[in-house]
Amino acid sequence: MTGDGGAPARPYVHVNCAVSLDGRLAFAGGKRAMLSGPQDLARVQGLRAELGAVLVGVGTVIMDDPSLRVHWELLHRPPGPPPVRICLDGRGRLPASARMLDGTQPTIVATTDSSKRGYPSTAETLVAGPGPEVDLPLLLRGLAGRGLRGVLVEGGAHVTASFLRAGLVDRMTVYVAPVLIGGAEAPSLMAGPESHTPEEWVELLRESVEPLDDGVLISLRPRNRPTIPPPAPL
Ligand SMILES: NC(=O)c1ccc[n+]([C@@H]2O[C@H](COP(=O)([O-])OP(=O)(O)OC[C@H]3O[C@@H](n4cnc5c(N)ncnc54)[C@H](OP(=O)(O)O)[C@@H]3O)[C@@H](O)[C@H]2O)c1
Repeated sequence: MTGDGGAPARPYVHVNCAVSLDGRLAFAGGKRAMLSGPQDLARVQGLRAELGAVLVGVGTVIMDDPSLRVHWELLHRPPGPPPVRICLDGRGRLPASARMLDGTQPTIVATTDSSKRGYPSTAETLVAGPGPEVDLPLLLRGLAGRGLRGVLVEGGAHVTASFLRAGLVDRMTVYVAPVLIGGAEAPSLMAGPESHTPEEWVELLRESVEPLDDGVLISLRPRNRPTIPPPAPL
């Protein structure tokens, strides 16, 4: 898949998350759960560094306020270029105090025509579609046009669902921690429209399963969908 001049029409998209054994991303009500162990945390830092951009939804920013920086100390190597931080904020709910707006590294807020919200000058605003949801193909074209070759999508449940349902995922990794959260109020890996038949579920192919920390890391790719390869290291 290429755009004008042979450049990829969109960046490579890798979705990553950590879940409990019962598939939950967080505690009841969305309260952050530290599900990853040290090896998984270091693996995610490596992905952030390699792919050059990390993306979350505004729901995750409101609940977790992540810095989305690379913790280079966990990689035991000197700091490299910081990844571009991206937040999907179609309706303008991103708190002005969010850590990702602290101006310490390049940041893009992806929003829509339906939001009248202005953002601090510490972030670039990218308008993708009429809204209220950010138009993902339009966003990815905009990111490719800015020279981004890879994006690590780090959730949460609605954003993961949107990328998977739109067929815009090239690879997915899920760290499964050996804990059970239970109940009905804890968000699961994928929100969005429910599936009632096998025709409606999202089908993935297992690439590998490996022990990591106290849990397992599952690597997957979409079944029956074209994908693009990861960007070569610069
Ligand atoms: N364990 C993990 O690996 C992990 C990782 C990340 C997050 N989390 C957890 O996930 C939870 C947050 O997930 P969430 O589902 O509430 O929020 P989310 O997926 O982070 O953000 C969803 C919001 O993003 C906005 N959005 C704009 N365009 C969108 C599009 N095209 N598709 C989807 N969303 C779009 C919408 O905001 P509007 O409603 O304003 O339109 C939507 O409600 C938290 O509990 C967090 O702790 C866990």
